[in-house]
Amino acid sequence: MGAAETAKRAAAEAAIRFVESESIIGVGTGSTVAHFVDALASAAARPARAVSTSDDSDARLRRLGIEVVPLEAAPLPLGVYVDGADEIDPQGRAIKGGGGAHTREKAVARASRVWVCIVDASKVVSELGSRSPVPLEIETNQLHAAQQAIEGMGAHLTVREHTRQRGSTLIADVHGLDLQHPLEVERRLESIDGVVACGIFAHRRADLVLVGHPDGTVTEVDPGRERGAE
Ligand code: 5RP
Repeated sequence: MGAAETAKRAAAEAAIRFVESESIIGVGTGSTVAHFVDALASAAARPARAVSTSDDSDARLRRLGIEVVPLEAAPLPLGVYVDGADEIDPQGRAIKGGGGAHTREKAVARASRVWVCIVDASKVVSELGSRSPVPLEIETNQLHAAQQAIEGMGAHLTVREHTRQRGSTLIADVHGLDLQHPLEVERRLESIDGVVACGIFAHRRADLVLVGHPDGTVTEVDPGRERGAE
């Protein structure tokens, strides 16, 4: 296993201690989350059920015999939500949606008491936007208007062409945004007609960040302590 996978797996395994036996957990999407689900196989405490955010996570959970339930059928709030990020800052604000699942991820994160974010150290940034564009889910028939609104913010949109076939919405990425005030930008993007959700998680931010390192160690960041720095 390469250094990046070792780091992801270390963060993922460190999140297992937040899973309570017979609980209902929220499960995100991505390669770091895949390590988390794999680690559930040998965990002492196994959740009874899970609300998942993608077909891939659904399939992994089901292979372990964990029942997957839709968010609308789960008793709320969920206890713990475990998910990764494309970027995360010390205040727990993140960019997500590299896998295009951010709309479901945002809904499950908001429905959960605690979001434990699991990342390798390369994802930790001092300012959001350092390495990733901001994903958007957009209603396909509103693409043109959304594009104009984004240009009005001094940024530009690239459509993930393969997502044009996914139904009434598509996934696009916004490049060139000024992200010094992520909460404001999140609100502004989500007020654009046709934008279902953006990949900035500043309103619902992580409660705890577990950062895996290539040597297999894990450091914890408590965003609550960092908020004074905003
Ligand atoms: C998917 C996500 C993922 O959490 C993010 O892309 C990180 O993925 P990975 O763990 O594979 O690096 O937001 O929508």
